[in-house]
Amino acid sequence: MTKESIKQNPQRIFSGIQPTGNLHLGNYLGAIKNWVSLQSDIPSIFSIVDLHAITVPQDPAKLRSSIHEVTAAIIASGVDVKNSILFNQSSVKEHTELAWIFNCVCRIGWLNRMTQFKEKAGKNREKATVGLYNYPVLMAADILLYKASHVPVGDDQKQHIELARDIASAFNNMFKNEKQEDFFSLPEPLILGTATRVMSLRDGTKKMSKSDDSDASRINLTDTRDQISNKIKKAKTDSNPLPETLDELKTRPEALNLINIYAALSSQKTSSILEQFSGKGFSYFKPQLIELAVDTLSPISSEMRNLLKDTKEIDKILKIGQEKAKNIAEPILKDVKNLVGFIN
Ligand code: TYM
Repeated sequence: MTKESIKQNPQRIFSGIQPTGNLHLGNYLGAIKNWVSLQSDIPSIFSIVDLHAITVPQDPAKLRSSIHEVTAAIIASGVDVKNSILFNQSSVKEHTELAWIFNCVCRIGWLNRMTQFKEKAGKNREKATVGLYNYPVLMAADILLYKASHVPVGDDQKQHIELARDIASAFNNMFKNEKQEDFFSLPEPLILGTATRVMSLRDGTKKMSKSDDSDASRINLTDTRDQISNKIKKAKTDSNPLPETLDELKTRPEALNLINIYAALSSQKTSSILEQFSGKGFSYFKPQLIELAVDTLSPISSEMRNLLKDTKEIDKILKIGQEKAKNIAEPILKDVKNLVGFIN
């Protein structure tokens, strides 16, 4: 891609995922499944965001194998590495360079509002790393380094994308070219489908998360047929039959979560799933959800296992992605540095 064509066609997707432990159904339905369906419509860049992963302590050997696993999971889910760009974040140094410039644009007050930092740092805020606090600035750099127009993510990342928009606006106001044009257009979050926030299988008011102590709270992309089946069988529900309307599900978070998961896995609307199952109990619904989840996830986990037999090949794919990503990032960062007043 040339510098000219980048300028002529600013529509571009960027999204990322952290290589920290197993990917779960929330990552798949909230992000990767949407990446796969969008990639044929808009040029897409996907990153395994290893720089974000080290904002909390990581074991180096485990981090390396997680990078391979997450890359394999993304490819096995259907991201087409011939047409889309897939790379690990730390291999494109421009991310950290732009993040530093944005550190000098972003205000402390904006970061103090970030709810995810408050959740992740918990009571021990003084012991959290500066990186964890600063994380949304790096995320803004990830997106804006490619002048991405759209960012497909789950609901939990919305606030971070709003911050990226604030940083882009502030940069535009601080640094103008001779024509007084805005340098960045503001990226839009794309929060798509019925599973924008997949909840824990043990507690329908808590997000499904890699960091939950209970493995039974989530379905991992590497789970076997039996594990998926057992986790769904044991998933918390209630004793009422499924209702006819979504309104009646609002006070039943666990039931709503399972219905949303079914809808997302089958790419249907939640209302059509309710039509299909209203009046039926969970003893009828759960076996069908198990079948659907196993049918969707088994081919992904078996392809993942296949890909992981040859990690050299995965490294090659990431290297190709790195080169393609750099070709886009370098000229954009050069323009940024010119605007700021650096001598390149
Ligand atoms: P991460 O690694 O926590 O999650 C990756 C993607 O999965 C989505 N997700 C969920 N969606 C629905 N239900 C859930 N329970 C659930 N859990 C996670 C997330 O919303 C995300 O889309 N900060 C990001 C990574 C990142 C990034 C970026 C994303 C770094 N730079 C630039 C977009 C653009 C994160 O920690 O995602």
